[in-house]
Amino acid sequence: MVTYLDAQSAPLKNTGQIRLHGPEGFEAMRKACQLTARCLDELASIVAPGVTTNTIDRFVFEFGADHGALPATLNYRGYTKSSCTSINHVVCHGIPDDKPLREGDIVNVDVTYILDGWHGDSSRMYPVGEIKRAAERLMEVTHESLMRGIAAVRPGARTGAIGAAIQTYAEAERCSVVRDFCGHGVGQLFHDAPNILHYGTPNEGVELREGMIFTIEPMINLGRPHVKVLADGWTAVTRDRSLTAQYEHTVGVTNNGCEIFTLSPAGLFAPGLKLE
Ligand code: MF3
Ligand code: CO
Ligand code: CO
Repeated sequence: MVTYLDAQSAPLKNTGQIRLHGPEGFEAMRKACQLTARCLDELASIVAPGVTTNTIDRFVFEFGADHGALPATLNYRGYTKSSCTSINHVVCHGIPDDKPLREGDIVNVDVTYILDGWHGDSSRMYPVGEIKRAAERLMEVTHESLMRGIAAVRPGARTGAIGAAIQTYAEAERCSVVRDFCGHGVGQLFHDAPNILHYGTPNEGVELREGMIFTIEPMINLGRPHVKVLADGWTAVTRDRSLTAQYEHTVGVTNNGCEIFTLSPAGLFAPGLKLE
């Protein structure tokens, strides 16, 4: 059975109950999410051939520190970095290191800042120099998948409607949807109920209600959907080593749709893509 509760009076642990946030929660999330979006905007002019993912990670830490925020991933379940940097066939949770990015790579940078106790979670793809048309197309399909998932959000719809919108579109574009990771409730907790699957049918899942806040973060592959996690315990890669992409927004359900908290103030959510 699904239960909903007032976020204000709920204990700060994931009990499986779905929190409903009021105007104060929405305002706090706007602030945390806009800081994350500004950091990701700054990265558009930092990501380049020769730059290491540790350099990106250091920027994420320092930009947060300069604005009173801490990266939620730092010391989260043993993770020791301020961001995830996932290159080419890395699906998610790539660990920043000292290897330079190379011309033609595509890299997802995933940042979650905690500002005044609230979590702003977003990720984008960055092309590294000139990239192949296949990589550009995968990023276009993944971005469009996210936006179609977001368009399905409204009170009364089920979480399955989000997954269905994403899966129907991505598969029609001859891509596949990763099943092993999902979007999640977010707010004063990093990972909360409900899970937001990126596949499924509209009649599945829990009913969306005004005040719910969650991420949508589809991972879309050019090849087969299967992933494996490397020996470091984090890095998830496509089993067939095919190219993969991901975009993530944090959204809040309103009375007639949703508000995207992590929109780019500079219009740089999808750098390198010509969006229709
Ligand atoms: N930011 C990721 C998400 O979208 C979670 C990263 S957890 C980490 O949910 F530990 F891998 F960093
Ligand atoms: Co997330
Ligand atoms: Co994230």
